[in-house]
Formats: sequence, structure tokens, C-alpha cells
Amino acid sequence: MTRVLVRDLAQLATPAGAAVPLRGAALGDISVTDDAYLLCDEGRILAVGAMRDLPRLAGDVVEIDGRGRCALPGLVDCHTHAAFAGDRVDEFALRAAGATYEELHARGGGILSTVRATRGASEEELTSRTHEHRLQMLRHGTTSWEGKSGYGLDRDTELAQLRAVRANGGIPTWLGAHALPPEFADADAYLEYALSEVLPAAAKIAEAADVFLEQGAFDAEQASRYLRTCRDAGLALRLHGDQFTEAGAIPLAVELEARSVDHLEATGEEGVRALAQSDVVAVLLPASALFLGRAMPPARPLADAGAAIALATDFNPGSAFCDSLPLVCSLACTQLRLSPAEALAACTVNAAHVLGRADRKGRLAPGFDADFLLLDVPDWRYLAYHLGGDLGIEPFVSGERALP
Ligand code: NIG
Ligand code: FE
Repeated sequence: MTRVLVRDLAQLATPAGAAVPLRGAALGDISVTDDAYLLCDEGRILAVGAMRDLPRLAGDVVEIDGRGRCALPGLVDCHTHAAFAGDRVDEFALRAAGATYEELHARGGGILSTVRATRGASEEELTSRTHEHRLQMLRHGTTSWEGKSGYGLDRDTELAQLRAVRANGGIPTWLGAHALPPEFADADAYLEYALSEVLPAAAKIAEAADVFLEQGAFDAEQASRYLRTCRDAGLALRLHGDQFTEAGAIPLAVELEARSVDHLEATGEEGVRALAQSDVVAVLLPASALFLGRAMPPARPLADAGAAIALATDFNPGSAFCDSLPLVCSLACTQLRLSPAEALAACTVNAAHVLGRADRKGRLAPGFDADFLLLDVPDWRYLAYHLGGDLGIEPFVSGERALP
């Protein structure tokens, strides 16, 4: 592989420093270089800097014209449910007419309707749908992503989902405790099945385990049993918590030293304090709150208290049919009162940290993977500023153009 030089960039922006995760004042510390270059070699970043400091380069170098464009780190989506079949457009229309997400779930719709569609798809179909979803994310600048299972809830379909994520370059998370499938009478019986029959194989594919801790899903005692068993099998821990009610997700996440607790729309002051004093990352999903018409998570109090926060799409067919991290950054600035700088750090460095990849992903710095975006915009903050706009994103992964 030859060297790649992107030259004459209007701006190059990247989270400053080397700390991980970024929190407090450092969360908003973005280093911006005007009239910049970015030099990659063998899929890694060799150097970044101002054009006036560009060293003379001998040998083969592929040059890319960066005039009028900005370079950013490839975005990292640390929370998606991208491996699904079917859609929920009918439920979307019902919700528009007044039905609630919980009502649809109680009627056997919601998550269970996607479980039916996903169980009905072949692994080939599932892999190809996941491929389409991954391409959409890439067009919006996502170069690293996590994908959860949780729409199978039986051994074969859960494993097929995890493989579909892996086959498309995603980082798989086993969401074996997402909902109670219809063939089980109660959550305890289902968990016994999932932990004895599915976990041993899932742990060979997935990197983390996740649970939906919520009224109507799994309670704190069940989540604790599930997560401890997954930890013993070598998986990192994540939780869907405080989405609709505070049901004990934060204390459990802190106690088990989980990587993250995600959603937090219902989190109160005590939860904010507990997260700020811990190393658990608060993953905020404002597209989901918007899509369901719910209150936004307490992002400003979390950031001000010093909690480590990340942003993600929660891309899924029911609660957040949204594959765009730039849109999430716009919501972060308009709804969560984060600055564009905080939003960028939250979906690069901090999201990479949630996925255990902060040493290679999320920064434009020497030694990091050459995953970057060229945006056809005059100022990098257009990432959040241009609401739903076309940013002319050209994504690169390992130093190569990533879109077909
Ligand atoms: O993160 N809250 C639970 N799980 C997903 C929604 C899944 C669905 O509705 O299909 C979420 O919002
Ligand atoms: Fe989710």
C-alpha cells in the first residue's frame, strides 16, 4: 500500500490530547488546524499538521486535493441494532396517529414484530440487509460501528445476527436479554435457556453483552444474573437503562464496572451523580428520544458533573430509524445543549472507548487507523450545524476510499 497525502485542507479537526475517555473541560477540547495536511501510510496515520510544515516526501505518494474540504476522524457508532429484517413503518404510522411505543409492544408488536421478521429471514438475507444498513451508515460518515443481536432470542437467529454484524465489519454485542420471546412463559425461564444454550456460542463471536433493564423487559435482579454470567464468559458489559423508568440500571452498571449504560432519558440527579463518579460511559441516544417523542436525556448535567458521555444513533426499525451520526450531532447541539466540540468527541474518542478501540480509532493522530472523513464544507462544525444536510462526506477506512 502506498502513502496517501490529503493536502490543502481548509481545516483538520480532531479531539485534542491523548486522554480516554474525554470528560469535563477536555470533552470540548478539539484541535483545529487551518490549511492542513493528513499523511497516511499502510492504513495508519503517519502525520497531520499545517501545510507550511509538510516535510518533503520522497517516493510514491497518492495525493488527494483537500481544497475547500474539512477532515475529521471517521465517526464511531457505538450503539446500533443494524442486523434486522423487515421494518416497522406501519407502527410508525400508528404512533403518528397517537399509539404509544409501549402499547404497541404490549399488543405483541414492537420488538417482537422485528423478532418475527428476523427469525423469518435466512442468514444470507440478514447479512445482505445488514450490508445495506452498514452502507447507509458509512454514507453518513460512520467508519466503525457496533451491532447488537436481540431480534432472534433463539439460538440460531441470535448467532446469525452476530455473524451478520461481524461479516459486515461491525463489532457484535450479544443482546440476549432484549425481550421475552413468546415461547417462554417467564423471563427467568428464558434467561436460563439463553445463558445455558446461547451464551457459550455467542461469547465466541460477540465482544460485549447487553440487557434491556426496564419495566416489561428484564428487572435489575435478572439483569444482574445475566450480566455476571456474561462477564464470566469473557464479555464486556453494556446496559439499556433508564429509557422509560429508573429501574436500577445505573447502580448495577457501576457495581459491575460496565462499559456503558445507554439511553438515560429518565435519569434523575442521583443517577447523574453516580455516573459522574464512575468510569461507566453514559451513551446518549437523542434520535431515539426524538423518534419516540420523549424527554431528552440530561446531557448537560452529566457533562457538567464530569461524566464520560458518548453519542450514538441507536439505529433500529422501531425506536430510532436513524443511521446518521451527523444528525445525532445536530440533536446534541440543539436538544442536549452540547457544543459541536463535545458532540464530536462523544461520537469519536468516547464512542471508540465504549467499543474498546480508543487506542486505534476516533482521533487523527500518528499511529491511529487512517479512518477519516473529507467533508465538502468550509468549517468542521457544519457536521452538527447543517441539520439533515448533505455534507458531501467522502469516507476513508484504513487510508482507502470506503464507498463503492
Ligand atoms: O434501544 N429499548 C430497547 N431496545 C431498542 C429498541 C428496539 C426496537 O424497538 O426494536 C432501543 O430503543
Ligand atoms: Fe438500543
